[in-house]
Amino acid sequence: MPPASTLPGVDALWPLCLKIAARGAPSPADTQSPIAWNAAQGCSLQGLWDGEALELFELLKPLLDARHAGTPWAVGQLGQSLDGCVATYGGDSNYVNGPEMLVHLHRLRALCDAVIVGAGTAALDNPQLTTRRVDGPHPVRVLLDPALRLPATLRVFCDGQAPTLLACDASRAHEAARRVGADQVLGMRGLARPDGSTDLRALRAALLERGLGMLFVEGGGITVSRFIEQGCLDRLHLCIAPVIIGAGRPGLQLPRSTAMRDCMRPPSRVYRMGADVLWDLDLRAPAATC
Ligand SMILES: NC(=O)c1ccc[n+]([C@@H]2O[C@H](COP(=O)([O-])OP(=O)(O)OC[C@H]3O[C@@H](n4cnc5c(N)ncnc54)[C@H](OP(=O)(O)O)[C@@H]3O)[C@@H](O)[C@H]2O)c1
Repeated sequence: MPPASTLPGVDALWPLCLKIAARGAPSPADTQSPIAWNAAQGCSLQGLWDGEALELFELLKPLLDARHAGTPWAVGQLGQSLDGCVATYGGDSNYVNGPEMLVHLHRLRALCDAVIVGAGTAALDNPQLTTRRVDGPHPVRVLLDPALRLPATLRVFCDGQAPTLLACDASRAHEAARRVGADQVLGMRGLARPDGSTDLRALRAALLERGLGMLFVEGGGITVSRFIEQGCLDRLHLCIAPVIIGAGRPGLQLPRSTAMRDCMRPPSRVYRMGADVLWDLDLRAPAATC
């Protein structure tokens, strides 16, 4: 076996992942491609690779399999402290995690059709939501703002780096269009439920209608929690950093469980991300539901 340092690594693997995200996996007849596909196992990596590339492939495989199958699919992420916070009380989250996790976020953006953030994150972070740390296309940037509280001066509405959609109920679409322009508004009938909550299945359906089936829900804690509660996430990447924030903004905020046997216990895998630890949780497995 060649020494590990001469084996192809992440730099060689990443363009292959981007190709699959753009066009699906190579056909079984394409024996030249290092990524093969078959119905039983989905995508698999052929030949010898270094350990880092093998780990990255395993982590991304569920996403690549969904891409090949052409099924709508959504992954959420939260980067949190040991005490379960995603930001300080005042909303500072730069940075909870180390640089390895930031690269991972940008990779997920590049492999998905759209990145979704809640209004709280958009207002506090004024993020760009681009893929500037990796090669790959920018996703469509979706800001979930049913109450139309976001200012039109946010970078995503003005920087022209990638398409942006302000997601709101159809009843508020005209008002939203006046603020940010009609081409940046996704108004949906039934997004705002009578009880004041947001129907995330309606959001997923509306995005799918626009060809945006692979979704990355990047935060914050309230938004990711609502996606989980409504059964709208397939996987969750929960990345825990060795930091203690104290009374900060909470990550997952889900309904109370009375007994341990009723708690979600999704199948999980663990990956090192520099000093952080990423938990990859399969939310579609039977044990993931109460
Ligand atoms: N560490 C990470 O991985 C990570 C990732 C993303 C964000 N963050 C941090 O998470 C925090 C935000 O998360 P979150 O759970 O509070 O909210 P969020 O999930 O981003 O957004 C959902 C909520 O935003 C609310 N909101 C709060 N302040 C707002 C404002 N100024 N303008 C418009 N809407 C506002 C909305 O309230 P209504 O329901 O009342 O309309 C809605 O409930 C930020 O500090 C951000 O830096 C961390």
